[in-house]
Parts: sequence; C-alpha cells; structure tokens
Amino acid sequence: MNQHKLEKDELFDLIVLNFPVGLIIIDREEVILEFNPAAERITGYKKEEVMGRNCHEVLPGIPCHLKDAQKKLATEKDKIFIHIEGTITHKNGHEIPVRYTAAPLVKDSELKGAIAIFREVTKEKQLEQHRRVLISMFAHDLKGPLAIAGGLLLRLRQGKAGPLTDKQVQYLDTIVKEIGKVDRYIKSFLDIVRMEAGQISLSKELCDMNSLISELLKDVEIKAKQKKMVIRMDIPEDLPLVYVDKDKIQRVIYNLLDNSIKYSPEGSEITITCKDIGDSILCRVEDSGPGIADEDLPYIFDPFYRANYSDSVEGTGIGLAIVKTIIEAHDGKVWVKNKRPPEHGAIFSFTIPKAGQDNFFKKELISAKKL
Ligand SMILES: Nc1ncnc2c1ncn2[C@@H]1O[C@H](COP(=O)(O)OP(=O)(O)O)[C@@H](O)[C@H]1O
Ligand SMILES: [Mg+2]
Repeated sequence: MNQHKLEKDELFDLIVLNFPVGLIIIDREEVILEFNPAAERITGYKKEEVMGRNCHEVLPGIPCHLKDAQKKLATEKDKIFIHIEGTITHKNGHEIPVRYTAAPLVKDSELKGAIAIFREVTKEKQLEQHRRVLISMFAHDLKGPLAIAGGLLLRLRQGKAGPLTDKQVQYLDTIVKEIGKVDRYIKSFLDIVRMEAGQISLSKELCDMNSLISELLKDVEIKAKQKKMVIRMDIPEDLPLVYVDKDKIQRVIYNLLDNSIKYSPEGSEITITCKDIGDSILCRVEDSGPGIADEDLPYIFDPFYRANYSDSVEGTGIGLAIVKTIIEAHDGKVWVKNKRPPEHGAIFSFTIPKAGQDNFFKKELISAKKL
C-alpha cells in the first residue's frame, strides 16, 4: 500500500485549495458550497463571506441559473456546458472581465448543483485592445497609398498618360478592379474593428422597408442576373415604418442578399419578406443554397469565420459579423436556420423595432436635451 496515498476528502480539499483558477460550487438552490482561494483573489470576497449565500446575490455575473439547466437536462442530458465571457463585480465595485466554464452536477439524471470555474482575463482584454488599435492604424495607413495608386491607375486607364493597347487596357481593368476589392476589404475591416470597439454611431430616421429594400435591389439585381437568379420581395404595402439608420440597414440586407447570391446555385430564387410581429418588424432572407452545416452554426456570425465550402467563393468572412453588430446596435436580433429537408437553403432572420411614437420622440427629446 502506498503510504502517500491520499484520502478522498483530503484530495478534494487539496484540489480546491490549489486549483489554479477560481472555482465555485453551488447546490440546486443556487447557494454557494465551495469557493476556493483563486476565487477569493479574483472577486475580493473571503470564503466565509460568501459561503451559504445565494450565488446571484454575491456574484451577479456568474452564470448560476439552475432553472434553465433543469429544463435543458430533461431534454439534452449531458450536453450543457456553458463557456462564456463576462464580468464579475469585484467586492470593491470594479467590473473584472472573466472567462467561465460552468457545468451542472448531475447524478442519476438528477440535478444536484453546478460547478463554475473562471479566470480573470483583464490582461488578455488589454492586449486585445492594443492589437486592435495597432491593426486598425495599419489598415488606416494602407488606405492613403491605395487611394493614390487607384487614382493614378484610373488616369492611366482613361488614356490620360498616352494611348493604350488593348492588352494594356485589359490588364489595367483587372488591376483597377482588384485595387477596388482591397479598398473594400480595408473599409469593411475598419468597420468591424470600430463596431467591435462599440463605436458604431447610428443616424436614425423614419423609413419604409418597401422603399429601403427596393432602392437597394437596383444594385443587387445586377449581381443576381449574372447568376440568372430572381429576388422576390414579399412586403405588405401597409407595413409600419421603422426608425433606423437607413444606410446601415441597407448594408445588412445587402450583405445577406450578397451571401445568398454567392452561395446559391445558378437559376435559384431568393425571397425577402418583412412582416409586423407586434413590437418589431421581422425580415427574412431565404435562399436555396447549401444552408449552414451544424458545426458552423455557432460561429457563422463571428468575424472572419468562413465555412469550408466557401473557399471557392470570394469573401472575407466579415459580412455577417457586420450584420450582427448593426442589428444589435438597433436593439434587434439576428439568427439563421436551415430549411427543412427535402428543401435546401438558409433562412436568415432579423428583427428591428417598429417606429413607435415613443422611440421616435424619445430620440428627439434626447437630442433636444443635449442642445
Ligand atoms: N446564404 C448562405 N448560404 C450558405 N452559407 C452562407 C450563407 N451566408 C453565409 N454563409 C456562410 O457564412 C460564412 C460567413 O459569411 P460572411 O460573414 O458574409 O462572409 P463571406 O461571405 O465574406 O465569406 C460564409 O463564408 C459562408 O460559409
Ligand atoms: Mg458575405
């Protein structure tokens, strides 16, 4: 027998004491049962102060909603881990950025409580911010020389520096087109960096979705025609107005339609519908493309994420991230579902609040107060 062998209880205490990340265990009533020294360091609370208290009360940021877990447990069994980033309010009132992983404690299909581990990510966040500033400065600096090169190329192409042969015109056309693309990438990239930093500013006005979309379709239909595709619009004439940033919502719809055109087969149909669902307007873009594979679904709105099959199609993976940022800045939601077999295709939906009298006037009041 190994004389160094530890008893089970002793081993448990050792692990909790020396666990290199914050650890909280709660019972099924969401009452704290265990709180290790790393958790004390991150939150500023002593173990004695939190033991026996409700987790929500002491640490509102920690995801300890066992009612949801109970419901999910009944249907999904053991698949309910949560990995999230959030903040914890330190005892001194400061918000501390943390990354958690939480899981229910289950025995014989019965929920006994939950365990959450978390670690502080302040340094990572600062580094991320630093990297973001550097990258955006770099992208910004690229814009100047690119604009000059683009302008000069255009002058060359227009024959302003002497006559050109057909071959030279052909080459210059391709270069101008490619430079245009780089310019668009840089702009989208800077947009996403700004939006991620929460710097999106909305310039809202009362808009009619019918004309907002019709206006935009003029551009998109040229692309659709090249693939012999038809875009159908199904929007009631009497759809209530929305109070939105028109350019940005047009950008959302453009990005969704652009994807549908890119990823759907030639000759297929895209439908865009809008309807009144009470508080909000629900809009949908439906296509007959490949849809989104299950493994891609959780990441599809992340910046730079592209599914495998997209390699043969041009893109940067930024379009949907922009869609999400713009819709959320309007207090709306955006999501995607696949059509049910035997049909194929993706259905992207988003909501935007209706232009209620109050949200229109609220904005006016706020701007009036600022004067
Ligand atoms: N309508 C769609 N049908 C199938 N896949 C899509 C569709 N829209 C988006 N995707 C997938 O989501 C990814 C991210 O889209 P997006 O952010 O617009 O980037 P991009 O179009 O530049 O690749 C795409 O690369 C593609 O894999
Ligand atoms: Mg796209």
